[in-house]
Amino acid sequence: MKLHTDEGLRNQFPALSTMTYLDSAGAGLPSRRVSNVMQRLTLDWASKGENWEEWLMDVVNTRRAFAKMIGGKAEEVGVVPSVSVGLASLASALKLKTRRKVVTSSLNFPTNVVLWQRMKEAGLLQNVTVLKHRRGQVPLDAWEKSIDDKTAVVAVDYVSWFSGARENIREITEIAHRHGALVVVDAFHALSVIPLDVERDGVDMLACGFYKWLCGPHGAACVYVRRDLLQDFMPSYIGWHGIRDNVIERLMQSRDPFDVPFALDRGTPSATAARFEWGTWAPGVVAGAMEAMKFALELGLGPRFGEIKKRMNELRGGLEKIGLRKAMLTPSPDENQGAGILTFGVREHSAFVSDLRKEGIVVSGRFDHVRISPHFYNTAEDVEKLIQAVRRIIKKRKTR
Ligand SMILES: Cc1ncc(COP(=O)(O)O)c(C=O)c1O
Repeated sequence: MKLHTDEGLRNQFPALSTMTYLDSAGAGLPSRRVSNVMQRLTLDWASKGENWEEWLMDVVNTRRAFAKMIGGKAEEVGVVPSVSVGLASLASALKLKTRRKVVTSSLNFPTNVVLWQRMKEAGLLQNVTVLKHRRGQVPLDAWEKSIDDKTAVVAVDYVSWFSGARENIREITEIAHRHGALVVVDAFHALSVIPLDVERDGVDMLACGFYKWLCGPHGAACVYVRRDLLQDFMPSYIGWHGIRDNVIERLMQSRDPFDVPFALDRGTPSATAARFEWGTWAPGVVAGAMEAMKFALELGLGPRFGEIKKRMNELRGGLEKIGLRKAMLTPSPDENQGAGILTFGVREHSAFVSDLRKEGIVVSGRFDHVRISPHFYNTAEDVEKLIQAVRRIIKKRKTR
């Protein structure tokens, strides 16, 4: 199926009729399906009040759909408010007595670095190694050299938010496991962009949100923890939704959620990854996230991967033709398989991005770079429009 040429499908994304949107790594466009579900839930809430038990079932269904998308099981998934909260919740479950080192990457999104730095400053970790990137990627041998028998966790973003490089997750998990270390993956720029399977890739823990490539809302994310780790991977902090015999577990057993008091003499975590869910969710957001995944699963993830790859090839080819090969930070496909992000260096990125905006083209600017991220809803014409605009802006700058 050619997704981007399907008018019905493009019509699902009203913003496409008013702009050339090439910033799905910043935030994906919400489909009508997602915004309608969210509006309906808000209107229902306004007219009928809280529909708590039904909303809680959306959390259960969100765990199931997310598990399906990553190749895991529902009991391995928890629904949390953001990737950052999810990563902190996972970190609180680490046993840091004999292993007190974390290996991470300068290509990670800041949370997946500063979280570990803060733990070091708080005396919980001894050493945090932040691997430096070379021309947008961290070579596999740098991971190999840094991961050792003292490493508790390897924290890696599957695809870099900045350079767009795709990590060799399978190889990294193999190295980590050889040393007895765990691997936590931020998959925000991988899920729904490239094929991802936690079991195939040996991922121990993962976090991912909805508001980028999944075209869902802000304010929800999922964490995954491999089933055989759950046995003794207990968070240090817990809330009432994370305990054993919590309200969702009661509802699932067809019980009244308040049939018996909650145990207050202990804080026993749920047997499932629900233990990483702390407090009450934003119901409209969870319903929107659920609808976004339903939509993605109905369309099938395979066709999305194909379209993104085509747009990325057109983009790279077009930018090379106008002389930007050397300016590109994103490694070429023969060095790195990449995903859906292409970044190139410019002076004064804000001015560059706002010049593109004036032509109705939306991309992001990051630290003297421009980041372009086409999605399955973009066309070859969108990419061509961007390339011609970039060419004009560069030409104008030269004559200034
Ligand atoms: C890779 C990655 N992880 C995490 C985040 C932030 O997620 P959250 O705001 O849900 O914590 C971003 C935001 O751009 C990101 O690019």
